[in-house]
Amino acid sequence: MDWGMANRMAEIISPATGRCLMLAVDHGYFQGPTTGLEKPGETVKPLLPYADALMITRGALRNTIDPGLRAPVVLRVSGGTSILQDDLSSEDITVSAEDAIRLNASCLAISIFVGSANEKTTLVNLSKLCDKGQRYGIPVLAVTAVGKQMTRDARYLGLACRIAAELGAQIVKTYYCEGFEKIVNGCPVPVIIAGGKKIEERDALRLAYQAISAGASGVDMGRNIFQSKWPVAMIQAVRSIVHENKTDAEAWDMFESLRG
Ligand code: R5P
Repeated sequence: MDWGMANRMAEIISPATGRCLMLAVDHGYFQGPTTGLEKPGETVKPLLPYADALMITRGALRNTIDPGLRAPVVLRVSGGTSILQDDLSSEDITVSAEDAIRLNASCLAISIFVGSANEKTTLVNLSKLCDKGQRYGIPVLAVTAVGKQMTRDARYLGLACRIAAELGAQIVKTYYCEGFEKIVNGCPVPVIIAGGKKIEERDALRLAYQAISAGASGVDMGRNIFQSKWPVAMIQAVRSIVHENKTDAEAWDMFESLRG
């Protein structure tokens, strides 16, 4: 890995712990004004001190985020469908490498839809993006998107994660499931988890703990942080699991004390 690529990876995944707490606020690229993200700049401001990286689109970044932010940017560079479609898999690359560099992106994020009608297109897009990333020393995060008809089990997610790594992704994001260790063992690059739909805070902390215990290199969590009534307490509790090896019970105690 050349120096620029290694340096950007170290911005995302802490060399001290080998882990990452990424704050995901890119949902608007296909969901529009997601609850809690009507004004992303205001949402993320109190959370950024606790996040290792911010996953966001270029439009939200340019229009709502203070350029003085200190968190590395994981730039969402795929899109092309909306929640109005039954099938969300018809994505393409939506941002040029030049614009990503202009925005000082530390990582490029793209979804792949293994098993979907657009499997080939999204996998070839990932490969092309990895070529661009290699050219400029920018790592690529592959997101294993899951269609409604696909089972979120270790066999399927393990297949999607391994393919993403084989095609060149430097980091893979997937969902936590039973047998998560198998996914991590079969994937030669760091695997992080998405938080998914909003659930009770206690359950989201358990999810993060289970994933980290099973070998995840971190979490890319959005709704379970910014849709919480106590987002600042929540991100600190999740951070304690990711970087301080706290259990979910310890993180819950921390959350309760912080929310006051
Ligand atoms: C979803 O399409 C985006 O990639 C999100 O960044 C991802 O799902 C993580 O956010 P959440 O924790 O809300 O699922």
